[in-house]
Amino acid sequence: MFDETVSILENKKVNHEYYKLVFSSKRLSAGVTAGQFLNIQIENHEGLLLRRPFSYYRIRGQKIEILYEILGRGTALLTEKRPGHTLKVLGPLGRAFTRDLKGKKRILIGGGVGVPPLLFLAEAAGKESPALSFLIGCKSKTEVLPKAELAGVKGEILYATNDGSYGKKGFVTALFENLLKREDPKTFFIQTCGPHAMMAAVMKIAKKFAVAGEASIDERMACGVGACLGCVVETKEGFKTSCVEGPVFSFQELVGYA
Ligand SMILES: Cc1cc2nc3c(=O)[nH]c(=O)nc-3n(C[C@H](O)[C@H](O)[C@H](O)COP(=O)(O)OP(=O)(O)OC[C@H]3O[C@@H](n4cnc5c(N)ncnc54)[C@H](O)[C@@H]3O)c2cc1C
Ligand code: FES
Repeated sequence: MFDETVSILENKKVNHEYYKLVFSSKRLSAGVTAGQFLNIQIENHEGLLLRRPFSYYRIRGQKIEILYEILGRGTALLTEKRPGHTLKVLGPLGRAFTRDLKGKKRILIGGGVGVPPLLFLAEAAGKESPALSFLIGCKSKTEVLPKAELAGVKGEILYATNDGSYGKKGFVTALFENLLKREDPKTFFIQTCGPHAMMAAVMKIAKKFAVAGEASIDERMACGVGACLGCVVETKEGFKTSCVEGPVFSFQELVGYA
């Protein structure tokens, strides 16, 4: 784990929903796998804000890309940073998604800020296990990522939008149930990241069809290193920190989530 001051190379709007932040770091980019994250300190004029966690989205050589959306004060401030501005970045942090699914077919289910780590996983995993379905839920077409961002994904990408302006109308979980009815559910492994309600619904369906999987939990974080206990989640083995022992947990581990 390293705490580095990095210089921003790029920070711009990608579509209605997301901004892309790019910086370069040899140490923060080495040996990273999808699901891991960085804790970024965003400074304002008066002082310092707490660090905010962001998933790795893409790594090209030593260049690190983050895809983020505005949620509150910190992420709004982040959009004002320009190339040449600096940020303190701690990472790589957390437990990653499982890469080797031992022959099972991968279903990725994402929404909102859960899409970036799954896209990283889809690009990396496609080289080893090409059988992949990536289901993405959005409110409307304006949130759909530009095609160039998805060009590295080898597999089918299916969208569901709440208003029906792109892909199938409704929730992404309907796409998921359809897939499970298409083939023997036991041949699949689910990996999900997104809003709590979406992941809880995914886990309920997975339980109904007896499909294994894992979820990257979106808990509020502060230290990112297991010290403040601000991010604990209940598991079958007791409370665990989602910053160190997660954010990725198997469906069976999580208690009272779905
Ligand atoms: C492991 C991990 C990876 C993440 N990866 C990404 C990413 O790749 N891209 C991205 O855009 N965002 C990501 N997030 C979410 C991101 O950390 C939050 O959007 C950010 O911390 C919000 O900071 P803020 O100062 O803008 O909002 P704040 O002012 O801190 O909060 C605004 C509102 O949002 C709520 N909130 C804040 N953080 C969270 C959260 N984590 N979950 C649910 N509600 C929250 C607050 O309770 C408050 O109501 C990730 C979160 C985690 C835990
Ligand atoms: S954020 Fe402090 S223990 Fe996880």
